[in-house]
Amino acid sequence: MQDHLTIVQHPLVQHKLTIMREKDTSTAVFRQLLREISQLLAYEVTYKLPLTTKVIETPMEEMESPTLAGRKLALISILRAGNGLLDGMLELIPSARVGFVGLYRDEKTLKPVQYYFKVPDMLEKRLVIVVDPMLATGNSSAAAVELLKKAGARDIRFLCLLAAPEGVARMKEAHPDVPIVTAALDERIDEAGYILPGLGDAGDRMFGTK
Ligand code: URA
Repeated sequence: MQDHLTIVQHPLVQHKLTIMREKDTSTAVFRQLLREISQLLAYEVTYKLPLTTKVIETPMEEMESPTLAGRKLALISILRAGNGLLDGMLELIPSARVGFVGLYRDEKTLKPVQYYFKVPDMLEKRLVIVVDPMLATGNSSAAAVELLKKAGARDIRFLCLLAAPEGVARMKEAHPDVPIVTAALDERIDEAGYILPGLGDAGDRMFGTK
């Protein structure tokens, strides 16, 4: 997890992602696969979490056994599509604290504007994992990370399903200290900001909207 960009090449991740990309995949299957993939990505993004030990008693004898060190980590969902990644991750990390960042794009300035921000306390003492399935232009992701830094976050990681080179470059420029974990690096974004080949609008596909 030293690199700025980690692409999770695990065959299960790649297989599930292919099904998710297909345009005829149903909402129910898309949602289920997103849940499954988010857990595999969560495994990668938490790979080097610090451990300590504690003394426990097994039915056989006492032992010193590994346990997570430090404060509960914080999962921050960028609304609304981030919630699709959040659900699966919370199954794996049920004691994580959860926050939400809502941003929309101003039609005139094209800049992200904040409409919702609610995050756990003591962010400066937590590993903060920001989740958003699609890293496209990177503008809203960079803005969300900026808000989290202003709220005190120091150790931040960004987890997405698909990344475009433009988004990765934007994040690297704005937040070189924030490692990105993704299942794939696609070719580019189109004029409307969609990732190509991508999977379409992640929010619409997971929530069944148009
Ligand atoms: N958001 C999406 O949902 N899809 C894209 O391709 C880009 C941004």
